[in-house]
Amino acid sequence: MNRFATNILAAALSVGGLVMGDNTALTEAKNAKKDEFYTQRVDIENELRHYKSHFKDKVVLCNCDDPRQSEFFKYFAENFEKLGLKRLIATCYKSQDVDLFSQRDCERAICQIYEGDKNGNMIVDDDEIGVRELKGDGDFRSEECIEILKTADIVVTNPPFSLFREYVAQLMKYGKKFLIIGNQNAITYKEIFPLLMHNKIWIGYRFGDMSFKVPADSEPRATRYWQDESGQKWRSMGNVCWFTNLDIKKRHVSLPLYKKYSAAEFPTYDNYDAINVNKTADIPCDYDGVMGVPITFMDKYNPEQFEIVNANDCRKSENVPIKSHGLIKDKEGAINGKPTYVRILIRRKMK
Ligand SMILES: C[S@@+](CC[C@H](N)C(=O)[O-])C[C@H]1O[C@@H](n2cnc3c(N)ncnc32)[C@H](O)[C@@H]1O
Repeated sequence: MNRFATNILAAALSVGGLVMGDNTALTEAKNAKKDEFYTQRVDIENELRHYKSHFKDKVVLCNCDDPRQSEFFKYFAENFEKLGLKRLIATCYKSQDVDLFSQRDCERAICQIYEGDKNGNMIVDDDEIGVRELKGDGDFRSEECIEILKTADIVVTNPPFSLFREYVAQLMKYGKKFLIIGNQNAITYKEIFPLLMHNKIWIGYRFGDMSFKVPADSEPRATRYWQDESGQKWRSMGNVCWFTNLDIKKRHVSLPLYKKYSAAEFPTYDNYDAINVNKTADIPCDYDGVMGVPITFMDKYNPEQFEIVNANDCRKSENVPIKSHGLIKDKEGAINGKPTYVRILIRRKMK
């Protein structure tokens, strides 16, 4: 955003009554813009087909979803009877998109509730969907949204990437089951990695590339951005995945191991008692100690085959600083003085 646009946005924020510390307001407005990625139906269908058994008699909440356009809401409404749902709720965040030029009013934050087909035509009719305006802006952290969250069994959505840590912390605090989209980098967050390490959450099926619709006023980008024939703008991300605490078959499938250990191929870290493995597929089948593996390992992690080890417990000396994330990361994760990529420490479980 250029300086002129930034100034206009700052003016708009104070005119619109959103007077906060200038920087806070601007950062929040910029983040809100960056968070506008809309998930495609095909990605939802491809993932959700692995979780069907979890949904019978359950209340599903999509709490970062404008039900007027969310494919999550549409998917659950259209599959309500097939999944045997009890209730579907969607709440949305009112548009934070302050636009002085169009004088567009912010949309209201609303809550929609669907309890299945009432007239027997097996179509989701408008008059079967209960709509009410929320008192506040629909922020998932607001009191009224937390009250709605408490009534839900399973939360399914693509939450704002910029608030991922807080979003997951809230789900954990209220003991909710969930299936959400996030960036693979979140695996290494100090708030997220311990949850993966202790098997409180895990990675779902899709792990890699996903394309998202973005709003019409999104800035063009040099890469991973395009506009289709209809004028719809798109962005893709190469490192997206699903995070969940719903059990899935995938996490009970063992990774086939074929490689034999050799000290030359798998050197140890300077500061940690562990060998370095550059590719998940190359994890040696005959090494009983601790191994550092890339974060892509999480896509193959079966807790019956491996345990995840806290890197702080493998420090070679007291001089190696304790890291709040528990990973091999930063300059301490070197081999013969050369830095490595982020590594997760694992150990094969003995039969
Ligand atoms: C990555 S987008 C995904 C939208 C939708 N869930 C989907 O998958 O198509 C995240 C959405 O969260 C909304 N959002 C941003 N901050 C929020 C907040 N504090 N509370 C609730 N929703 C928020 C954004 O407006 C945005 O539409």
